[in-house]
Amino acid sequence: MADPDILARELEHHEKLYAGFAQSHFARPAVRVLRHHSVARILHLTGAGKNSRVLSLGCGIGDTELLLAPYVAEVVGVDLSPAAVRQARADAERLGIRNARFERGSDAEGRFDVVMAVFFLHHLSDAALAELPRHLQERMETGGVFYSLDPSRRRLSGAVGRLLIPGMMKRYQTPDERELDPEQTCSHFRDAGFDARVEMYDFGSSPLAGLLPGWAWGYRTARIVDDWLLKAPPFRRRGSNFEIVARRLPHQPPVP
Ligand SMILES: C[S@@+](CC[C@H](N)C(=O)[O-])C[C@H]1O[C@@H](n2cnc3c(N)ncnc32)[C@H](O)[C@@H]1O
Repeated sequence: MADPDILARELEHHEKLYAGFAQSHFARPAVRVLRHHSVARILHLTGAGKNSRVLSLGCGIGDTELLLAPYVAEVVGVDLSPAAVRQARADAERLGIRNARFERGSDAEGRFDVVMAVFFLHHLSDAALAELPRHLQERMETGGVFYSLDPSRRRLSGAVGRLLIPGMMKRYQTPDERELDPEQTCSHFRDAGFDARVEMYDFGSSPLAGLLPGWAWGYRTARIVDDWLLKAPPFRRRGSNFEIVARRLPHQPPVP
């Protein structure tokens, strides 16, 4: 059950963020390359393709979804923030993308082959996060795949950021968001009958993409270093953002 106070604070924060700062920040070359990388990763891990219907929870201004749209049948993005939805719709129109639709809210009608949630789960209350996988059973086709990306509670970059640039970190964060424990988050999906696993997306490349000067080659270099670092378990454990990849199984336990 969504907590109305949290929703109000999320809305207030994101209406300000999407008044212009997010648009210019996400247009930086490093963030654009990061989004392209993220889309390739989502396609790879979910198996989404030309026939897939995709639902994106907490889609923001839809920049990831609009990059994904050419590879799938349909993308529906939902977000709490009217400013975000307006921007996503305007960008879809400007780019001539006809198979992406954006709605204000936390849910959409219908069933989907893929449900994605990029930097979304860590904005939910503990109760809403624990409840989400059972709800998703109604939204997803059997065999459908859920994908999420969220900051890890064990990330080294978070500890360093809090020490060196606490003001900048606050600027990006809502009062209620928090880093999540990867295994605990994954267990909510397993408990709801999904075949779920944790992957580690990055070590330093995504946090660096948000910092100065935002060059594309800077992100690409950091990404190469990340791919190498993440092969080693100690770095993987202290990675920045983890993914949940969860397949909806044919035989679900009864929903209590
Ligand atoms: C950190 S932003 C991520 C946005 C986007 N996915 C991205 O990668 O840029 C989190 C988003 O979730 C939205 N949000 C937070 N709580 C929500 C809820 N309960 N229902 C729908 N959207 C929500 C916010 O408005 C915000 O756009």
